[in-house]
Amino acid sequence: MRLRYVPGQYQYLKECDKVITEPEKRGYKLNDAVYNNSPIYVELGCGKGRFLRQTALKNPDITYFGFEKSVKVAYRCAKAVIENDPPNYFIVYSNGDILRDVFHPESIERIYLNFSDPWPKPSHYKRRLTHKKFLDVYRSVLTANGEIHMKTDNNDLFEYSVEQLKEGNWEFLMLTRDLHGSLYAPNNIMTEYEERFVNEGKKINKLIVRKPDE
Ligand SMILES: C[S@@+](CC[C@H](N)C(=O)[O-])C[C@H]1O[C@@H](n2cnc3c(N)ncnc32)[C@H](O)[C@@H]1O
Repeated sequence: MRLRYVPGQYQYLKECDKVITEPEKRGYKLNDAVYNNSPIYVELGCGKGRFLRQTALKNPDITYFGFEKSVKVAYRCAKAVIENDPPNYFIVYSNGDILRDVFHPESIERIYLNFSDPWPKPSHYKRRLTHKKFLDVYRSVLTANGEIHMKTDNNDLFEYSVEQLKEGNWEFLMLTRDLHGSLYAPNNIMTEYEERFVNEGKKINKLIVRKPDE
């Protein structure tokens, strides 16, 4: 569904306490915004933020940064912020490809890729968030035992990602092609897209990998 442009949405993002805009120009690393010195988890492409909020609520000892590059989507995410929202999450209105510029090396414990854009044309594969170019970035910002958690309904993107991760020697900790029919279902926190796909009867793929040794 196409989201409507709302006048003043960028200004709204700039003024919202929960939102960090232009993090690369701020002269500090996002690590400095961390709540109570807690571990850092990042979601790339957080959409309207349901997963980000719910997982932050469930895990108060972790700080979450949800990157969203679309102003229209980030605005919807920011509009959903309520007064009693947990203090341990931030919405970052930015492209996730700047992770290396805005975090210290080896300082992120976990990266979530939830229903990333599939970019089906081979000429666009380099935009996929599991393209080698991105995996190299994740490698440099993840801690020694840092993990990537990926979920997608898109089988083509999933198989491509498995291949890329194998080529990069990432260690597979779990993999299922039917998350909701698996033993991992009870602890799963659904995203907006996931709920839609599950209601359409689609199977959800999930994998977790650990950063390879140098
Ligand atoms: C298909 S939606 C999924 C949203 C959400 N994760 C969910 O599962 O409901 C993908 C979102 O990722 C955002 N996105 C795609 N590439 C991105 C990037 N490189 N950095 C930040 N956001 C990105 C898009 O703007 C879009 O809102």
